[in-house]
Amino acid sequence: MSNYHIKHLEEYYQIYRKSIREPENFWEEVAEEHFLWRKKWDKVLSWDFAKPEIKWFEGAKLNITENCIDRHLVTRGEKTAILFEPNNPDEPAQHITYQQLFERVNKMANVLKSQGIKKGDRVCIYVPMIPELAIAILACARIGAIHSVVFAGFSATALLTRINDSDCKMVITSDGSYRGAKTIDLKGIVDEALESCPGIEKVLVVKRTGGNITMKEGRDMWLQPLLDEASKQCPAEIMDAEDPLFILYTSGSTGQPKGMVHTTAGYMVYTAYSFKNAFQYRENDVYWCTADIGWITGHSYIIYGPLANGATTVLFEGVPSYPDFGRFWEIIDKHKVNQFYTAPTAIRALAKQGSEMVEKFDLSSIKVLGSVGEPINEEAWHWYNDNVGKKKSPIIDTWWQTETGAIMITPIPFVTPTKPTYATLPFIGVQPAIVNEAGEELKGNQVEGRLCIKFPWPSMARTIWRNHKRYKETYFSTYKNMYFTGDGALRDEVGYYRITGRVDDVIIVSGHNLGTAPIEDAINEHPAVAESAIVGFPHDIKGTALYAFVTLKDAGESRIHENLRKEINQLITERIGPIAKLDKIQFTAGLPKTRSGKIMRRILRKIAEKDTSNLGDISTLLNPECVKEIMDEAL
Ligand code: PRX
Repeated sequence: MSNYHIKHLEEYYQIYRKSIREPENFWEEVAEEHFLWRKKWDKVLSWDFAKPEIKWFEGAKLNITENCIDRHLVTRGEKTAILFEPNNPDEPAQHITYQQLFERVNKMANVLKSQGIKKGDRVCIYVPMIPELAIAILACARIGAIHSVVFAGFSATALLTRINDSDCKMVITSDGSYRGAKTIDLKGIVDEALESCPGIEKVLVVKRTGGNITMKEGRDMWLQPLLDEASKQCPAEIMDAEDPLFILYTSGSTGQPKGMVHTTAGYMVYTAYSFKNAFQYRENDVYWCTADIGWITGHSYIIYGPLANGATTVLFEGVPSYPDFGRFWEIIDKHKVNQFYTAPTAIRALAKQGSEMVEKFDLSSIKVLGSVGEPINEEAWHWYNDNVGKKKSPIIDTWWQTETGAIMITPIPFVTPTKPTYATLPFIGVQPAIVNEAGEELKGNQVEGRLCIKFPWPSMARTIWRNHKRYKETYFSTYKNMYFTGDGALRDEVGYYRITGRVDDVIIVSGHNLGTAPIEDAINEHPAVAESAIVGFPHDIKGTALYAFVTLKDAGESRIHENLRKEINQLITERIGPIAKLDKIQFTAGLPKTRSGKIMRRILRKIAEKDTSNLGDISTLLNPECVKEIMDEAL
């Protein structure tokens, strides 16, 4: 396992340099040493960012579940693979061993087959954070079906858009879900969505809450009786390296969400390698990532990365505030968690409660702390470092994206000296570039610009589902021969990277990636609304929150604005989900526009941020007079 655990900074640089100079040799060695292949590759890498076309390990044959489960059975059969901690702390935790996971995944895979699912079919998984979610994902991978997990906090409209975009044949869901003190009628949301999803043939329902639900004859089936009948042997479908493994939707700056397609071999190799090194995971460690599996973080670092390493991965159903704000710390203490990976928004919310909640518990098991999803501010970083890590556990601030599949910039714990708010150094094999607006790479240190990646890495998304043109336009057309991330970044005097935030119209709220277009569409559906524009503004807990500027069809709208605000937020909850709710809604007579009619969000953003000293030249606007009014009435 020579190059699978980086031990000191010198070694990092040595391995990094090798991975850049000889990327093919480097990844070939990793792939040869650590995975189970049914057939080895003919070619390690072929790529062309102009097309764009990227292939890793072409010609190889494998099944990712054999790597995540089967091959561990001999030595780790009795080891806990998934440690399930339910929402209710009084409900016992479940330790699912690798052997049990093997049997449950195989049974589920046989159920999928018996219900008509074949290799290449798309299966939508809309299940809360319970073991069946992980099992459904792995069962799809077992038979070569492409899973499309939709976060179980999304609304019926968001769900149906995603189901239809990828032509899913089946939905796997549960009767309901628990989130803190709330019970959510998940099946009801699915029923509503499916009224507009003609392609769905079957719905499998996990029993979780025991709520009252309706089952549609011929379409809906309880999962358990089918599992009871199923065999616990299901041969793994042998997949090509570049066969799609899953689709996962992410917001774009315009239009509908993008179905990012991740393929099998490269994704497996890179998520496994990065998991082991970025978290310095050791055998018998207990690792916990608090993300929801509905996001990429959960795919790569609750399921595939940890399981490919034979790790114990915690799956937590609940929320940090239930039954009180000590829940995370209680779980760390209870399960003796060694690596803890969460989001800055959670850290800020917990920090607000003071350190007493943390001090009640023994957190001495913690070795490594992680942060992901948005920039971590200095205050949150120090609170995390002082109170959770007790100044002895390195914080890895990991920068990456749904599109990158896995961690791209991060310190290696105990190896890279950390620096608050800096994601520090590129991970092995990653070649970042900072470019100016003209697309010129800014070499050397102490530069700031837009973050691009110059060379392919194994876990990059290969396309947008059935929309390769959009993939090319979004990521490979802004700068020639580079993948454009959409983020701004700077490189400091020692070469450390700091992510400065999105440079497009994507807004990161509580670590969730939200595009402005679908939210504005939802607002504009309100019969009283003429037009709207969304921007982000700084928020204590969420990092960034949403501010909407809305013009009404009838400026003298007689209804009081408070009611309209509620109705607009209700529409957003229905169309997207509560995560996209607006914190501020300002009604205005007009929105600043260019002469070609484009809304000038830059100006609105400055007003929302209360930074109006330098609005730039507004005289060229179509309607400069509206800016003063908006400023005067800003919330
Ligand atoms: O803006 C960056 C921010 O989250 C975006 C990606 O969001 P998503 O695809 O939902 O994936 C989130 C989980 C990997 C990025 O373009 N982001 C993510 N991690 C960081 C970050 N910004 C700053 N620092 C980070 N560590």
